[in-house]
Amino acid sequence: MQPIPTRPTALVTGASAGIGQAFCRLLASQGYDIIAVARRSERLASLARELNSAHAIEVLPLSIDLGAPDAVARLLSAMAGRDIDVLINNAGYGVPGRYLSHEWSVHERFQRVMIESVAELSHALVAPMCARGRGTIINVASLAGYLPGSAGHTLYAASKAWMIRFSESLALECEVDGVRVCALCPGFTFSEFHDVTGTRAQLASLPKWLWMSAERVAAEGWSAAATGRLVHIPGRINRLIAMLAGALPRALTHAVSRRESRRFRDIH
Ligand SMILES: NC(=O)c1ccc[n+]([C@@H]2O[C@H](COP(=O)([O-])OP(=O)(O)OC[C@H]3O[C@@H](n4cnc5c(N)ncnc54)[C@H](OP(=O)(O)O)[C@@H]3O)[C@@H](O)[C@H]2O)c1
Repeated sequence: MQPIPTRPTALVTGASAGIGQAFCRLLASQGYDIIAVARRSERLASLARELNSAHAIEVLPLSIDLGAPDAVARLLSAMAGRDIDVLINNAGYGVPGRYLSHEWSVHERFQRVMIESVAELSHALVAPMCARGRGTIINVASLAGYLPGSAGHTLYAASKAWMIRFSESLALECEVDGVRVCALCPGFTFSEFHDVTGTRAQLASLPKWLWMSAERVAAEGWSAAATGRLVHIPGRINRLIAMLAGALPRALTHAVSRRESRRFRDIH
């Protein structure tokens, strides 16, 4: 008897909006079953209905808050041992304002979503990927991970710089086992991010050409991972910004960051 062919499965965090939703649509169109994780269950249910009717795949919506201490354990248990071929660590947000204007619990939760859940989920899923000799992890970091810190949003750039270095190291460790890891570093992207973070009005004056669609970011990330890139910055302008940030004297980039923090961040 022929074995029943099984579809590959992609686990996407932050699947209820923006870049995560774009990844779900892209992967579903390529025949992946999707495990879609975020907090807003009605959004996930609606995405599941859309993808189920458009493609011959299955979607498992999981409403989980990745800021909760037991989130990854709950997520793994809900997946019931299912093999994961693609992991997209994408869930994220920003905490506006000065570091000391928030209780520690706000920062603790932020680090659970942006750092701990990424490290823990990767730790749980990369071993079975290596054992099967295949798998892809895309960590959605940010261009901010290449830039000097800014006043306000204090842990954001730091968490994304961490994500880039973590992805590079994991990629180099796992490539011999056939597993690809790529840090995707978008610049300004149309999504709900700046509404959630409360920076939409401050960014309204930015030129349109600085922005990219979530669909393009996801498509570029997927192609970059497929060709074995360790890091990908979507868009030529963003790559130029990252290059200048690395090449210019630190005193100059700090001066720019000091000025732009006052312009775009609520740090008073
Ligand atoms: N937009 C940009 O300009 C930009 C630029 C560079 C990098 N990025 C990065 O891209 C990633 C995706 O952001 P986006 O632009 O697509 O923003 P978005 O439209 O606001 O989507 C963020 C996603 O993360 C989920 N999420 C947030 N907190 C969560 C939590 N505690 N538990 C589970 N899920 C959570 C949200 O779902 P729920 O609210 O339903 O939980 C949502 O699905 C983020 O990591 C962000 O840092 C964005």
